Amino acid sequence: MKPSVVESSRVVVRLGERSYDVVIGRGLIDQASSWDGLRLGADGVVVTNPLVASYHLEKVRAALAPLHRRLHVVSLPDGEQHKDWPTLQRIFDAMLQAGCDRRTVVYALGGGVIGDMAGFASACYMRGIGYVQIPTTLLAQVDSSVGGKTAINHPLGKNMIGAFHQPLRVLCDVDHLSTLPEREFRSGLAEVIKYGPISDWSFFEWLESQADALIARDPRTLVTAIRRSCEIKAAVVSRDERESDLRAVLNFGHTFGHAIEVGLGYGAWLHGEAVGCGMVLAADLSARIGQIEPPIADRIRQLVARCGLPVEAPALGMERWLQLMRMDKKAQAGEIQFVLLGGPGVAVVQAAPESLVREVLSPHKATA
Ligand code: NAD
Ligand code: GLY
Repeated sequence: MKPSVVESSRVVVRLGERSYDVVIGRGLIDQASSWDGLRLGADGVVVTNPLVASYHLEKVRAALAPLHRRLHVVSLPDGEQHKDWPTLQRIFDAMLQAGCDRRTVVYALGGGVIGDMAGFASACYMRGIGYVQIPTTLLAQVDSSVGGKTAINHPLGKNMIGAFHQPLRVLCDVDHLSTLPEREFRSGLAEVIKYGPISDWSFFEWLESQADALIARDPRTLVTAIRRSCEIKAAVVSRDERESDLRAVLNFGHTFGHAIEVGLGYGAWLHGEAVGCGMVLAADLSARIGQIEPPIADRIRQLVARCGLPVEAPALGMERWLQLMRMDKKAQAGEIQFVLLGGPGVAVVQAAPESLVREVLSPHKATA
């Protein structure tokens, strides 16, 4: 479905009595309608980090202060390396010291790291309280803030300790993206592109036609791209909240991408950079199996490259590549499971012949 360009929009994540709106637009923080209908207790807790706070906290604080008797701010150290137990504990410490009760609402103001931690804290505090996602990275606006996956990392694995806990609302204010560093912004574009090949090929074609406006962060183009991304994610989550099957399609490009992140060491490539390259490899594999025409795989490669994301896989060594992909959460009895394309706009979770996986990696000099 070709998206119509819009100024602002609401997408509903349909989960019965836990349904909620994802609101996408400009200047949302200042609009009373953004907060309408939320059951707000006496206490509100904004969880953020110093960098995001320096740009965006004052506006959020001004909007929320009249809505709560007491508004608290918990500022956590910035970075994936702090997505851990001791940092989570800081949220609980602050809330207990402030006497926050079960009607307290937590506001996650930040990227995916803050969203995942504030969400997990909300899932645990007094056995579960409400929270609102205010995602400030593109990745968080189109992916991590929607769908209720919350987690912290364990030294033995990323996102291994967590809970499904849906937010009360998600506010994707594209104004927040104006301060995002270019590399982070482009990394988020990978997750936007992802939705086309897995679910809506005409959205992919629209992204091809709008790539320049997107890269330039044109607000109307962003609202439209984020809205369509959230619609697709909402539809998947509504049908398979806990990833028993369908939700896995959201991990297109992630099997190769995860190997890149672990193989190079977390942080060498941003998540979206690894996913972008992973999508190129997964599309190539789909074409080699004969499930899509090679020109479709080429178009995915071209759009990923145009967004400034890497398309050449790093040289991890063939055996290391395969070993890392066997460690992926989707692997079954040591057999690698990929999210591949069954056609343009159709994703399938399946195993692939190892000979073809080797072929995909070889031209990328990944075997050096
Ligand atoms: P991030 O939260 O680390 O943010 C990236 C950087 O941008 C940080 O330094 C942050 O402080 C900064 N930043 C955030 N907003 C900014 C703004 N508006 N202006 C300037 N700087 C800003 O990274 P991310 O890419 O947003 O999220 C990655 C995390 O999301 C990972 O931990 C990943 O596991 C998680 N994730 C979760 C889900 C899910 O479904 N829950 C899905 C995908 C990813
Ligand atoms: N980011 C994948 C998911 O939410 O399931």
